[in-house]
Amino acid sequence: MNEKIFSLGARLEACADFVREGGVIADIGTDHAYLPIWLALSGKITCAYVSDINDEPIKSAAANIKKYNLYDKVIAFTANGLTENPHSMANDIVIAGMGGDNIVAILDKAQWIKSPRYRLILQPMSRAERLREYLYSNSFEILAEKPVCEANRIYTVICAQYNPNPPHFNEFDFYVGQLGNKNEYSMRLIEKQAGILKAVADGMSAKGDCEKEKHFRELSEKLYLYSRGGEV
Ligand SMILES: C[S@@+](CC[C@H](N)C(=O)[O-])C[C@H]1O[C@@H](n2cnc3c(N)ncnc32)[C@H](O)[C@@H]1O
Repeated sequence: MNEKIFSLGARLEACADFVREGGVIADIGTDHAYLPIWLALSGKITCAYVSDINDEPIKSAAANIKKYNLYDKVIAFTANGLTENPHSMANDIVIAGMGGDNIVAILDKAQWIKSPRYRLILQPMSRAERLREYLYSNSFEILAEKPVCEANRIYTVICAQYNPNPPHFNEFDFYVGQLGNKNEYSMRLIEKQAGILKAVADGMSAKGDCEKEKHFRELSEKLYLYSRGGEV
């Protein structure tokens, strides 16, 4: 984008790609504030409200904001999750680098985000299936996902938006979302999920719970087949 800007890395770059041109973002759990600083320097956003639950990351964010002289564009403060004011002034909300369960807890406490005005850009470090389940069950449509590899680990970045008439979903969608099965990284993520569900099925078998064992084994096999490019 702009060669003078530092490199973000594949994970945050994928988040940046989903941010809409000319908008205002909220970055929750910003830590160093690299993403909003990069977006402000590149000219992709006009303003960012960035927050973190801890004071130390906010000190680090403030130092970086000072370094790049972005006081007027990147506003940093300490907060737990999404506060209505000033985060609700954003149009794109980024929550990256946290566990899926933590992201769900943050979203669930901010009912005001249930509006088509907001685009959610979410990058879970774990339990992506729990996050997708929350999104689907609360009328958020997953518009797109981008799987990326950074430091030999694969992550997905989920782009979602509230839709009062969301598409139908089933349990399979919690594991696959909009990953698709045409890309090496998405296939590896889905294959890993298939392995986790196989282990769950084995655990159910050891407990003698035949019904649950059958359910998870079938789901695991379906995911494995899908990860190999099969249609489901
Ligand atoms: C690993 S860092 C991620 C930094 C950056 N977003 C990224 O993806 O590179 C996670 C940050 O989330 C913050 N955090 C965790 N729970 C939070 C919450 N409920 N509200 C705001 N920040 C939170 C932590 O303090 C930490 O700085």
